[in-house]
Amino acid sequence: MSVQRRVEPTSKDLYDALLSDYPDHESGTRPVHAVGIGASGYFVPSDVARSFSVAEQFGTARTPVTVRFSNGSGSPVERDDALDVRGFAVKFHLSQGDADLIMITLPVFFASSPEEFVGFAKAGVPKPVKKESWWGRLVDQLELRAPSPPPDPNNPESGAAGVLQYANRHVSARPGTVAALMLVTPTSYARATYHALHTFKLTGPDDAVRYARFSWEPVSGVRPEQAKKPAPDYLQTELRERLSRGPITYVLRMVIAGQGDALDDPTQLWDTTRQRVVMGELVLTNTVVDQREDCERLSFNPTRVVAGFECSDDPILAARRGAYEYSCQLRGGSGCPVGGDR
Ligand code: HEM
Repeated sequence: MSVQRRVEPTSKDLYDALLSDYPDHESGTRPVHAVGIGASGYFVPSDVARSFSVAEQFGTARTPVTVRFSNGSGSPVERDDALDVRGFAVKFHLSQGDADLIMITLPVFFASSPEEFVGFAKAGVPKPVKKESWWGRLVDQLELRAPSPPPDPNNPESGAAGVLQYANRHVSARPGTVAALMLVTPTSYARATYHALHTFKLTGPDDAVRYARFSWEPVSGVRPEQAKKPAPDYLQTELRERLSRGPITYVLRMVIAGQGDALDDPTQLWDTTRQRVVMGELVLTNTVVDQREDCERLSFNPTRVVAGFECSDDPILAARRGAYEYSCQLRGGSGCPVGGDR
């Protein structure tokens, strides 16, 4: 009897799987979240934050930050009103080096292992969309399924059907896929909630260990875009205008794991009654002047953390380390590999 050994996807496999979803990707840019804009400001911890974590950002009065907002796609021309995730990567500039915290607008992920991530990405490779036959429409009606949308003449290829088929066969992909279907386009990068999805391990000054998940909540409130056809780059224009009028503020919300909550699986939602703690406020004051050097070239990496705020055993989080380093090297980014900047 032959024993089959599980082979973990390499960083290159993960990167290549992502790239296959974006045939118009431009070399020298990120394989996902290609369209972005950088801003700067500072983080102020709440009074209670330091009792939960000895990490420097929670014990210092004010930590300077550089952030990058992004649209989810790897296409260099994704419109700002595309129905897609939005990203918010934050770099805390600490005395011993940097710490990163990366979030997106999805509240739950669609893969619980690197293998599943590759399967999901492969299922989403764009294919020509065909008009559904009368027979297919009838079967949809009998099975109480929404009929497939007609082909879009501006986007003759799509990966949506493949992703839905994948989610039908893989239970762990369903919550993330449903959440993705319910995404709305925000009216501003400053008016969306972002989630880190993974669980992180916090150590307090009394050595107490807690596992927690994090979100940035906009102080100005969540608001979906209302305009019929906003300008293709309205999110970037709006951010610049908003910052010229005054600062933008987010609250860092932490949810602490309770008994039975999955600590290593970002596809599993937690009980909504868990303890919530405000860990601080992020204040953005300016867009960065040199968008190429101080934003586009920068490498954010979710495993760039410091003592007191460490990675959990989530295999997706662990796999992201190498995938981001690999991508950063390919695109000639700065600040990689993790640890190399310390
Ligand atoms: C195994 C799973 C994942 C893989 C392989 C992956 C891969 C990547 C890669 C290669 C990049 C480009 C990095 C660079 O060139 O600097 C990237 C960017 C990004 N990813 Fe992921 N990712 C994964 C999961 C996630 C998750 C769970 C989130 C949500 C928290 C996320 C949010 C982002 C964001 C916001 C960016 C843009 C960061 C920036 O502005 O520099 N990714 N991802």
